[in-house]
Amino acid sequence: MKYTIAVIPGDGIGPEVVEQAKKALNAVALQYDHIFMYKEALMGACAIDATGNPLPDETLDICKKSDAILFGSIGHPKYDNDPSAKVRPEQGLLKLRKELGLFCNVRPVKAYDKLISKSPLKKEIIEGTDISIYRELTGGIYFGMKELSEDGKTAFDSCTYSIEEIERITHLAFKAAQNRKKKVTLVDKANVLETSRLWRKVVGEIAAQYPDVNLDYLFVDNASMQLILNPTQFDVILTDNLFGDILSDEASVIGGSIGLLASSSIGAENALFEPIHGSFPQVAGQDIANPLASILSAAMLLEHLGLKEEAASIERAVQKSLDLEITTKDINPSNPFSTSKVGDFIADYIEHQDDSNMNFQNIHIGQSTII
Ligand code: IPM
Ligand code: MG
Repeated sequence: MKYTIAVIPGDGIGPEVVEQAKKALNAVALQYDHIFMYKEALMGACAIDATGNPLPDETLDICKKSDAILFGSIGHPKYDNDPSAKVRPEQGLLKLRKELGLFCNVRPVKAYDKLISKSPLKKEIIEGTDISIYRELTGGIYFGMKELSEDGKTAFDSCTYSIEEIERITHLAFKAAQNRKKKVTLVDKANVLETSRLWRKVVGEIAAQYPDVNLDYLFVDNASMQLILNPTQFDVILTDNLFGDILSDEASVIGGSIGLLASSSIGAENALFEPIHGSFPQVAGQDIANPLASILSAAMLLEHLGLKEEAASIERAVQKSLDLEITTKDINPSNPFSTSKVGDFIADYIEHQDDSNMNFQNIHIGQSTII
């Protein structure tokens, strides 16, 4: 089959990790006889530099016409340290999510056996963790009215949710739970926030349509503690935009590195796939960033296109790279591989998929692993 994939490398380490995801996709194309047509587009600080606009119209257009979007990362310190900047890279991503209606952000968190010892959390606590975070992505405080007063002395951001916005992601979260451990935990701050009380009401009503799924409620402050005290209690976490942003970074510690967490952002017509990590500008261009989150995002992209076997082949290759410790510095400080070498290995493994074709001795001297 032929698919058009919009590719937005973005800022910082985005281009180098997306490059590895493309290698994995190219290997899939060869192995399974597909054609992936990549359409590159600008977004973020690089788009501001080139056009003055963090999300040029052309990018939006390319994304709308694609079957799926592969995105790297966004952000640059020159904006982070300038609160008065009028145009910011992140506005590009937020506008893209909003314009394409990508309301459902799914962030899987797994404790890979091989990485358990890398986590700062104890093995017996994190072993067996398998969580899917359903983060609402186009509403809440991210998109409410916001203002800085004229004298610059006060500011506000408002948080709004409609029943419809809550309903559509809730159904997806419950459907996902039906195919997992059949538990949804709604994380909110219903003891304080009106929007959270609306979430509780709507989610509680919808739960009745899914009698096979258990619904549990947690306040976000407690949830953030439970996540590291007892992460295996969770299956699907359903939450709003801001809480989901914060909890997913926290949850990434369980997996051993934020460099492993992929995500999908799904709307009615479009879907975008990206690592949850940021642009990590300090190491951009050094070929040391972990490409696994981007590669796993490509697997989620294939899954979304209905290419399940193809997605599984990427996941197997990632698992193999973890088993053999062909991994970057963040999870393999004593014998690190470069970003591009990890990408090469994963592409090789997807193409050959058979351990008997691999020369494992070559791996550690940085040569081709295929006999
Ligand atoms: C994320 C990021 C974004 C967010 C930023 C870059 C705007 O942190 O995808 O988690 O806050 O949603
Ligand atoms: Mg975030």
